[in-house]
This record gives sequence, C-alpha cells and structure tokens, in this order.
Amino acid sequence: MMDTNKSQHGEWSSRFAFIMAATGSAVGLGNIWKFPYITGENGGGAFVLVYLLCVLLVGIPIMMAETMLGRRGRKNPIDTMINLNTEAAGDANWRYLGSAGIIAGFLILSYYSVIAGWAGAYVIKAFTGSFFSADATATKALFDNFIASPMQLIFWHTVFMVATMLIVMRGISHGLEKSVRFMMPCLFGLMILLLAYAMTTKGYFQGLHFLFYPDFSKLTGKSVLVALGQAFFSLGLGMGAVMIYGAYLPKEVSIAKTTVIVAAADTLVALLAGLVIFPLVFSYGLNPSAGPGLIFETLPIAFGNMPGGWLFGVLFFIMLVFAALSSSIALIEPAVTWLIECKGLSREQACVRAGLAAWGLGLATVFSFNSWSGFTIFGNTLFELIDYLTANFMLPLGGLAIAVFAGWVMKPAHSQEELALPEPLHYQIWQWLIRYIAPAAVFLVFLHAIGVL
Ligand code: PHE
Repeated sequence: MMDTNKSQHGEWSSRFAFIMAATGSAVGLGNIWKFPYITGENGGGAFVLVYLLCVLLVGIPIMMAETMLGRRGRKNPIDTMINLNTEAAGDANWRYLGSAGIIAGFLILSYYSVIAGWAGAYVIKAFTGSFFSADATATKALFDNFIASPMQLIFWHTVFMVATMLIVMRGISHGLEKSVRFMMPCLFGLMILLLAYAMTTKGYFQGLHFLFYPDFSKLTGKSVLVALGQAFFSLGLGMGAVMIYGAYLPKEVSIAKTTVIVAAADTLVALLAGLVIFPLVFSYGLNPSAGPGLIFETLPIAFGNMPGGWLFGVLFFIMLVFAALSSSIALIEPAVTWLIECKGLSREQACVRAGLAAWGLGLATVFSFNSWSGFTIFGNTLFELIDYLTANFMLPLGGLAIAVFAGWVMKPAHSQEELALPEPLHYQIWQWLIRYIAPAAVFLVFLHAIGVL
C-alpha cells in the first residue's frame, strides 16, 4: 500500500487492485442469488432488458459520479459530503446523504449475512454428499428443512458476521486485495463449468428463451422498480461503498474506464448465473418464481448429477461465500470508517460495534423464514421489508442524490478535472446522463411504481 498525504487511508496499490476490490464489492449474492430469483419472480426477458438499460443509463453514470465524489472528498461518506459541499458552496444538508448511505449499508448487511450463511451451510451439505443423485423434490425438502431451523440459520449467520468483522479489522489493504484477486477468477471459472453442464440439459433453450425473450405483458410498475433497485444493489451503488473505494483511488487512474470494467464484469456474472439456473429450472420441473430459495433448490440438482459434482459443489459454495464476504466488507466499511473518523473509535472497536449491531438486526431475517414467517407488514415478512426498502428505495434515492450533487451542485470544472475524460464529448455525454437521464429515470420509475404514472 502506498501512503500519500492526499488521503487519510492510503491508496490502492494499483489500478488492478482497485478494480478487483470494486468488483469484489459488486459481485456477490446480488448476482448469483438475487438476480436469478427476482428475474424468475418478474417474468424473465422483459425484466432482464429493463435491468440492462438501468445499468447502462443510470448505473454506470452514477457509479462514475460516486467514485468521483469519493476521490475528491477522500473521507468517510459523511465527511466527504461535508468537504465537497464546502468546496461547492452548497447546502449543508448534503451531509445527510452520507448518513443515509451508512444506514442503508448496515440494513443490507443484516440480511446479507444470513443469506451468505446459507451458502456456508451448503458447503457442508455439498461436502457430506447431501446432493447425491438429488431430484427437485429432494433439494426442495433439504432447503425447507434447513430454513425451518432458526438455530442453524443463527449459527451460520454468526460465522459469516464474525468472518466479516475479522477481515475488516485487518484494514483495507491486507484484508481485501489479497483474497479477492484469487477468488473472483475462480468463481468465474466455476460458473462457466456449470454453464457447460446446463447446456447439456433438455431445458437449455427454454431457459434461454425465458431469460432473453422479452414479453412486455409480464412487466409491471413494480417490476420496473425492482429492476432499477437491482441495478443499484448489484453495482453496490447509492450507499457510500463506491465512495469509500473511490477515496482510495490514485489520482491518475481513469474513473470512466474502471467503472465500465467493473459494471461489465458484474453484469456478466449475473447473466451467467441466469444462464445456469433457468435451464435447470425448466429441465427439472421447478418453479421459476420459487423465491429466495431458487439457487439452493436448483444448483444442488446439478451438483448431485454431474460428473465431479461433489467437488464442484463444495468449491462453488466456498466461492459464493467469498464473493459474499468481499461484498459484506464493502457494506460495513462506510459505517466502520465513520465510527473511526468521527467517533474516535479504534478500528477494532468500530468493527465489533457495527458487526454486533448488524448481527442483532439479522435475527429479524432469520426468524422471517421460520418462527415469524406469519408476521407480515403490508404482506411482507421483515426480511422482505428490509430488502424492499433498502434495494428499491434507499439505494435509488441515494443514487438520485449523488446524481443531483455531481451534476448540479458540484462545479463542472471540478467534475471535469476529476473525471479527466479524453474527449470533451465524453464529458458532455456523462453530464447529460447525470443531470437529466439518471435523475429522471429514477423519478419516473418511482412515480410509476406508486401508480401515479
Ligand atoms: N453488490 C453486492 C451484491 O451484489 C451487494 C452490495 C450492495 C455491496 C451495496 C455493496 C453495497 O451482492
């Protein structure tokens, strides 16, 4: 890690390390667990198309803006916003953007850890041969029995949260760069292998058709909002994680190029996950809208029936846990950095406090799948509520605020200097997207979802 006097945190050792860490934050349960199941619930192709448009027109420009704000502010999200605001002579309330982000990350982490715990439990299930020759009924029973047990879910949730806290305690350079560099390519390789298996199943073309044929009659206002929320969730936008990572980015690195690489990798992994899951769903007569259990009910069938499936199953779930870890680190880092910089805590104390609080809140998600499954608010369990509010409201609103700040409050001379795009036209396109298209899209999707449009 290089030390410079520009940043309080030090900087990424290289552009590659930054890309790896940002990809680590982006690629996680959102791509492999969430994308397939919400695509299944929202009817397939048309949803995927809207999702891709959201990534391209809203996600990428906002990701550039968020990285840029981070690099210029060089602090935790709240102080970054205070610094930038002083520079731009804007309204003091902009600092609440940082606070809202910290809260969103923390809320997401609470349930993220529970689901990552499921992946941890599935490493053991794969290892002990639970998937051997499994069919759809067997994997569904295995999953249903598992989530019916609060003790098991709490155990794995605890293991995952402790692992996250330990890594974050060791600080950004050691904890992050090393593990991600190796794990991401491995995960990608395993997904390609699974794709090769999916291509041999009889439902392959039906899966392809479901994923890519847009049937717009299946698209509702709510599914457009879910697609937008998923773009933010999957890229890890709108809550300060990208801002924090941007704070460690050396001045000479191109924000536009790195953003496009990270967004492309993230989208590729999500599409790959879809290409693996849906052929299996149709080949084995599963329901595409099975919900949060979808990958846990489909993938074990593949592992139980493909040659070498035992080994690949163990490896896959290990990789999934690592992908989730590199995202959970990003989810908690804004809160930890804030506790250190503003509350004067040591890194250890900050990690323990933030981790314990997120762990406690995670119990609400644990019980949503068993003891409290009947307890709903507006028809949603506590897990569904936290997920819905964070992904579909808090992140897009955070992103909207980032777009407005970067496009309208920050001086164009400053954003131009920070982005340092080679062509004036490129800057103009970005400015146009960030000033008009991204905010308008978020706003219209909200209006549509609440039935005004
Ligand atoms: N992008 C991560 C995923 O897809 C989740 C995440 C959201 C990470 C927000 C950081 C910030 O799993």
